[in-house]
Amino acid sequence: MSAAPAALPRHIGIIMDGNGRWARQRGLQRPDGHRAGIETIRPVMEAADRAGVHHLSLYAFSTENWSRPAAEVAALMRLFEETLAREVDELHANGVRIRVIGRRQELSPSLTRLIDAAERRTAGNRTGMLCVAINYGGRAEIVDAVRRLASAGHDLAHVDEAALAGALYTAGMPDPDLIIRTAGERRTSNFLLWQAAYAELHVTPTLWPDFGAHDLEVALQDFAARQRRFGGVDG
Ligand code: IPE
Ligand code: IPE
Ligand code: MG
Repeated sequence: MSAAPAALPRHIGIIMDGNGRWARQRGLQRPDGHRAGIETIRPVMEAADRAGVHHLSLYAFSTENWSRPAAEVAALMRLFEETLAREVDELHANGVRIRVIGRRQELSPSLTRLIDAAERRTAGNRTGMLCVAINYGGRAEIVDAVRRLASAGHDLAHVDEAALAGALYTAGMPDPDLIIRTAGERRTSNFLLWQAAYAELHVTPTLWPDFGAHDLEVALQDFAARQRRFGGVDG
């Protein structure tokens, strides 16, 4: 009898941290680290796809990251625009649906236009899902969900988990089974607070620009060895 296949996460969230340290180690500027970090995304997506994981969520910019120096924020926003403009054709050709989560109204009109167009163009794709969190905060998302329910006339005294989940930016997405954080910090930094309630956490010291297919494999092995109980008892 062959061994049962190892458990595979359906959806992986990645906190892509360590770009600044990667740059500093090389005597480069922080935006150089962010540029290198962007280059990591495609090979990691391909490795995930080969492994059978077709849904990724990437934390690219938090609601708290506006507190960084203006030049770094501007460089990041430029990179998001350049990358979206450059990568959408291929993602679309590969059947990947793009979704961007976060407070979009606070982004520049040019970035917003690119995001809207990418989402519209890829909305019918079903082979994979790439969700990018830009100006995203888990707390802001929950506040926005409550406001959305209230303005839709929902009776908030009777709100339940399904209604709230359906009003989050991630409505309709499966919850992440695995959250990977690079660069060693053991915190969520406001990423997918609601959705990651039962996600397994994998922290690696590898800095995001150095993260590769092998690191993903290690994370998947770690995940496969976990006992998920969801509050119950061993079965
Ligand atoms: C992650 O890398 C990218 C963003 C948060 C935008 P950092 O820029 O946080 O890198 P470190 O943590 O300073 O090394
Ligand atoms: C988390 O990284 C946000 C992103 C990766 C986009 P940070 O570098 O902002 O997190 P802290 O400040 O170390 O918690
Ligand atoms: Mg950081």
